[in-house]
Amino acid sequence: MRISILGSGGWGTALSVLSDSCGHTTVLWGAFADEIAAIEKNRVNPLLAGIAIPKTVRLTADLCQLRDSAIYIIATPSFAVRETAGKLRAHIAPQAVVVSVAKGFEKGSLKRFSQVIAEELPEHPVVILSGPSHAEEVGRQLPTSVVAASVNLAAAQLVQNALSNENFRIYTNDDVAGVEIGAALKNIIAMAAGVCDGMGLGDNTIAALITRGINEIAALGVRMGARRDTFAGLSGIGDLIVTCTSRHSRNRRFGKALGSGVPVQQALESVGMTVESYYATACAKKLADQYQVEMPIVEECYNMLYCGGDAKASIKKLMNRSKKSEMAHNWEVQ
Ligand SMILES: NC(=O)c1ccc[n+]([C@@H]2O[C@H](COP(=O)([O-])OP(=O)(O)OC[C@H]3O[C@@H](n4cnc5c(N)ncnc54)[C@H](O)[C@@H]3O)[C@@H](O)[C@H]2O)c1
Repeated sequence: MRISILGSGGWGTALSVLSDSCGHTTVLWGAFADEIAAIEKNRVNPLLAGIAIPKTVRLTADLCQLRDSAIYIIATPSFAVRETAGKLRAHIAPQAVVVSVAKGFEKGSLKRFSQVIAEELPEHPVVILSGPSHAEEVGRQLPTSVVAASVNLAAAQLVQNALSNENFRIYTNDDVAGVEIGAALKNIIAMAAGVCDGMGLGDNTIAALITRGINEIAALGVRMGARRDTFAGLSGIGDLIVTCTSRHSRNRRFGKALGSGVPVQQALESVGMTVESYYATACAKKLADQYQVEMPIVEECYNMLYCGGDAKASIKKLMNRSKKSEMAHNWEVQ
């Protein structure tokens, strides 16, 4: 099978190594010719240090090289997904499946990326590949499990069969909204976990944050049409656990700087890469208001990032909310 991957960042590169290891003819496309030339020279992407890219992976900055693939994986940062899907329109093979791995909502429209891609490539089934999957670990072929979500089961199974191997296990799921919403919102909670870490708080605090965090993510998700069960799966609690506890998470590092007292802009600059939680927090706040869902952790993150709020005051506020049952389902219409 021929698989094309669009986006030569850390995740696109790891997926190209995975695709090659599954025996596919693999093409990795990057938008910037100089970046592709530098990767070609050393067969290593500095964004995925230490992982050799096999010679059999074709590297290109030319979209014409992407003809005839059965699967196209869009692995650019989220801000470039619509533009990249649009560029692909003239080159994509008929009947090909498009996979999205972006985590977040489109800025401005607040659309999920399956919706964005369906608008740009309406003839093609879309599959979301998501779950606890740091590029650094997939590149090293450490055992990883993820979800391929689509309303088109055949398309999800095509991706499942094409990219599963002894170290990469893919489950299917038909709850596309649930899978995408879990992925889009987990970075906010990871940032909050970093804040707690930066403040010197303990493991109890982080565990509470993860558990109450998935509760409010699920509350919004269910209001938006997702299934509650999905949030107990790999793309929900699974991805939330890895992002809140892993040293690879840039969102957690951002939060840790904030929790240590570094001002927001300086903390963003200190990470040096796109910090998706910063934008995701603004999107989540808008959605919470629009769908009238109570999201106390998101609310406090928003205060900290956009209204000059103080982390200590936020913790105090969260701990002193009105007393309630753990199982008060705030996704039910009150
Ligand atoms: N890194 C991971 O472990 C991981 C895992 C799962 C999903 N994801 C998702 O995959 C996507 C890519 O993540 P990443 O970590 O590879 O990002 P990254 O920050 O490593 O990507 C940087 C690269 O994006 C490319 N790029 C920048 N602007 C572009 C544009 N306008 N058009 C096309 N390409 C452009 C450039 O090649 C640049 O080197 C994100 O949406 C992320 O949420 C990442």
